[in-house]
Amino acid sequence: MAARADSPRKRHALELFSGLPAHYGRMGAMLSFGQDPRWRRTLVQAIAPQPGERVLDVATGTGLVAFELAHRGCEVVGVDQSEAMLAGARAALERRPSLAHRVRFIRGEAEALPFEDGEFDALTFTYLLRYVDDRMATMRELARVVKPGGRIGMVEFGVPSAPALRVAWRVHTRAALPAVGSLVSGAWREVGRFLGPNIEQLHEHEPDLARLWEAAGITDVRQRGMSFGAGLVMWGTAG
Ligand SMILES: C[S@@+](CC[C@H](N)C(=O)[O-])C[C@H]1O[C@@H](n2cnc3c(N)ncnc32)[C@H](O)[C@@H]1O
Repeated sequence: MAARADSPRKRHALELFSGLPAHYGRMGAMLSFGQDPRWRRTLVQAIAPQPGERVLDVATGTGLVAFELAHRGCEVVGVDQSEAMLAGARAALERRPSLAHRVRFIRGEAEALPFEDGEFDALTFTYLLRYVDDRMATMRELARVVKPGGRIGMVEFGVPSAPALRVAWRVHTRAALPAVGSLVSGAWREVGRFLGPNIEQLHEHEPDLARLWEAAGITDVRQRGMSFGAGLVMWGTAG
């Protein structure tokens, strides 16, 4: 399926991720002080995947969550709109031949998933909602492909609420991230410049993400702040 470059936000996301796959896992861990691998593991635990279940990982990127799920015996489909990130995922899968029969990566958009209603036992997505124009419609589309009673979970960045930690987070995102990104590449410089303000905008516009999930028909929504609020893991049940 061809990606639709139909809004400035989508065009920016496609451009941004076209230059990132090479060092994605290491950079993500470094920029989050080694925390984001732990957030992904918490997500996978929260949706309690069982061996043999079909799980869709949306915005799979280089497949970091997809591989965690496959290690637990799930049949995983990873979807992403960026061919560059998917190329990174497929290269990583080649380095893990024992998982090859359980994981496949395909191009697709979260806004219009190429699947039937209720095809999956569970669904995960990571760092997606800042890149879509219509979050409610996207949440409904994610919920659509999960069978009733199936689990849905996400990881997103948060902003610490304690004043001193919020100041430290601002310094980290406004000074350290751009500086470290600049040392790596132009693409990572752009990530460093963009990420902090973009995370704050998400939480200003959507101060209650759990309500958004509920309005999309997801029930029993729970959340856990991670690393003093710098990470957010949320999960619930498809209606
Ligand atoms: C920060 S990366 C997260 C990758 C991975 N899930 C992880 O755990 O690190 C965000 C990913 O979302 C993808 N993405 C952004 N908007 C999307 C959309 N509308 N549909 C599908 N993928 C999207 C990007 O291409 C990128 O690979």
